[in-house]
Formats: sequence, C-alpha cells, structure tokens
Amino acid sequence: MHVDLYERIWMWGAAGIIAVFLGITAVATVSQGRMPPSHVETIDPAAVFTDSRFADRGVATLANGDVLVTLIALTYAFQPGEFRVPAGRRVTFRMTSVDVVHGFQIVGTNGNTMVVPGYVSEFSTVFETPGEYLIVCNEYCGTGHHGMYATMIVEEAP
Ligand code: CUA
Repeated sequence: MHVDLYERIWMWGAAGIIAVFLGITAVATVSQGRMPPSHVETIDPAAVFTDSRFADRGVATLANGDVLVTLIALTYAFQPGEFRVPAGRRVTFRMTSVDVVHGFQIVGTNGNTMVVPGYVSEFSTVFETPGEYLIVCNEYCGTGHHGMYATMIVEEAP
C-alpha cells in the first residue's frame, strides 16, 4: 500500500506522541503509585455500614494536625451532610458509595472525585480560604441527583 511521505510523517508523529504519553503514565504509576482517586481500595458495598474503615464518619484530627474526613455517599445524600475543617491544613477525604456511582465535587476548589460502589475514593488537598463551600454530586445518580449535596465549612485555623 502506498502512503504519501507527509502522511507517513504525521502517522509516525502521532504514534510517537501516544507512546510518550503511555510512557509517562507507566512511569508515574510504577514509580510514584499514581492512580485515579476513585480506586484506592476495594470494599464490599453491601457491608459499608459495618466496615471499620467507615465506622467513624466525620472529621478526625490526626496526630500531626492533618485532618481526615470520612464520608459515605448514598442516594441522595452524603453522610455527614455538613462538616467543618481548618484552613491551611492538609485535609484527606476518604469515601465510598453504598449504592450507585456518585460524584464528590467541592465547588470552587480542586477537590473532586468519582465515588464508585465497591471502591474507596481518597484525595488530599488544602483549603486556604475560610468560608462555606458547597459539595455537589456531579455524576447523574437518579431522580434525586440534583438535590444531592453537602456543606463544608472551612474555619480559620486556631
Ligand atoms: Cu449522587 Cu448524583
């Protein structure tokens, strides 16, 4: 099959770019443990309420001053529906879904993950600006999707 010279250059160029992207992804996965925030651990979605990892839902302060927020997503709410975290501290969110795929987006920040039944989602971030933040479900999850939200209050650090 005859392929024009310029066509061939573009084909090899495109293939090279894809190879570079796959290589970067492979290196980040292997050497830095990078993964989507929605799939850090597995969990039985039918046993979330009796799983020790989700027994204490809400905000916990760790020994080093960092904060851990543990949540459950379910149609059509987050548990807890309101919580407070300190500004300027590293906040780690851990959550899972007991039913269908939900989203967890802290509006106006970089906090955003899918919440998939059978998996634990986890990400960490820092909120510098005190105030009230809206958290919305951004994955269509059913007839009550539009009313699925939570409130996060970022308080001035003591
Ligand atoms: Cu939960 Cu949309």
